Amino acid sequence: MSASQLYDNHGRPLNYLRLAVTDRCNLRCFYCMPEEGIKYLPKKQLLTFEEIERLITLLAEMGISKVRLTGGEPFVRTDLMSLIRRIVSIEGINDVHLTTNGILTGPYIPELKSLGIASVNLSLDTLDRERFKTITRRDEFEKTWTTLQQLLRVQIPVKINAVVMDGKNIDDILPLVELTRQHPVSVRFIEEMPFNGEGNHYASLPWTYKKILELIRSHYPMLERLPDPPHSTSTNYKIPGHAGDIGIIAAFSRTFCGTCNRIRITAQGVLKTCLYDEGVLNIKNLMREGRSDDEIKAELLKSFSNRPKDGFEAEERRSGTPAIESMSTIGG
Ligand code: GTP
Ligand code: 5AD
Ligand code: SF4
Repeated sequence: MSASQLYDNHGRPLNYLRLAVTDRCNLRCFYCMPEEGIKYLPKKQLLTFEEIERLITLLAEMGISKVRLTGGEPFVRTDLMSLIRRIVSIEGINDVHLTTNGILTGPYIPELKSLGIASVNLSLDTLDRERFKTITRRDEFEKTWTTLQQLLRVQIPVKINAVVMDGKNIDDILPLVELTRQHPVSVRFIEEMPFNGEGNHYASLPWTYKKILELIRSHYPMLERLPDPPHSTSTNYKIPGHAGDIGIIAAFSRTFCGTCNRIRITAQGVLKTCLYDEGVLNIKNLMREGRSDDEIKAELLKSFSNRPKDGFEAEERRSGTPAIESMSTIGG
């Protein structure tokens, strides 16, 4: 059966699902959660693999063709690989991606390759072991670094996600850019958002996408702008002669909402039609109440037809609570 096209109320195609498989994480990144961590969900509240498979099947029938698994850290979820095996065989799902911190990922790379995983986005904010320890509050740099090397070796396309934090990893921007000289990797610098469970770290964001770009351009004046892939979160650049490329994600400035093709499902089965909303539909409850596939699809369609036009409108629509929940809860 061929999937239908799905559009939101602003005429944007929706074809990309970001699904969080857990809210738990084995790191405590400064930009994501407080040092003491966050209160995790009881396991009963997580979507089961059966529920996830049912939900993705329904969404694939509606027009979703790309799935990204996120967390928390996806590999903290027991037996993640058996879920991935199920998802890659769902009709209509053409590509499956992962966003991971790389610590537990290494042993699964051969199977990820053989399952045809389309790409892996690796969270890595510094190439310096000590700064890694300060930012993530764990001494695990070597494992992430080894995972990067293994991904490159088996030629799984890899993007590095580096959140740019004032006073924390500014000295890492140029070394991360340098990684693209020899390695065919996309290094993406991300504006820090207040999704850390505590709130804004700054009165106004010191490292905006413009400032990040200025710094890189001042050292690499030959930087060339690349054409934007459809629905890209990053604006992309290349240094002539380098094997990889560079991207900047204006996640806080929200410059790319006009082409947003993404929906999110949190680990507890709540639909978010924008990263900045507070959750718009509890799909887990619908499933556990015994609703039929058609009833669930109808509820989903209602939410897709009531999407805010951008992250600013999504923030305004929140019922009082500011947008500061941990990214580990939201699912990235
Ligand atoms: P690709 O599929 O490779 O384009 O990856 P992606 O950018 O969709 O996903 P990834 O999980 O690597 O996210 C990178 C950064 O972009 C994270 O900080 C995300 O939170 C941010 N990001 C992803 N999607 C959105 C979005 O819809 N809105 C905003 N504001 N930020 C987003
Ligand atoms: N601001 C920006 N990006 C964040 N991420 C996690 N928390 C934040 C934040 N507060 C990024 C991580 C991860 C991706 C899914 O989200 O780098 O790679
Ligand atoms: Fe889409 Fe919301 Fe992100 Fe904008 S802020 S790109 S509308 S999810």
